[in-house]
Amino acid sequence: MPQIIPLCNAKDLVNSGVAVPFDVVYGGQTCSAFAVRFKGIAVAYLNRCAHVAMEMDYQPNRFFDTTGQWLMCATHGATYAPLTGACQIGPCRGGLIKIDISESDGVVHWHTAYNLKPLEF
Ligand code: FES
Repeated sequence: MPQIIPLCNAKDLVNSGVAVPFDVVYGGQTCSAFAVRFKGIAVAYLNRCAHVAMEMDYQPNRFFDTTGQWLMCATHGATYAPLTGACQIGPCRGGLIKIDISESDGVVHWHTAYNLKPLEF
C-alpha cells in the first residue's frame, strides 16, 4: 500500500525555482531526490542523472538551467524536460526517475512505491 508523505508547503516550490530536496530508499539504496515546480505543476525525481548515476545540481538544490526551461545536470550538461524527466539534449539515455507527488491543502506530498520507500531512522 503506497504511503503519502508530507514534503513541503506548496508555496515552497516556485516556478523554475530552487528545489526542495528529500531522501528516499530506491531499490534498497538511499538516494537523494528533489521536487521542483514548472508551469505551475509540481514534479519530483531522483537526483540521479541518466548519463552517469551522479547527483545533478550545480549548486545545492539548483537544477534549472539559466532559461528556467530545462533541468540540467552539472557534470556533462544533459538536459531534461521538467514535466516528464525525458532526456532532451546531451549524453543522457532515457530520462530521470520520476517520483509521484501530489498537492492538497497547500501541502506537497510524495508517494512511495514498491521500490521507493521512506528512510527509516
Ligand atoms: S553525469 Fe549527468 S550529464 Fe554526465
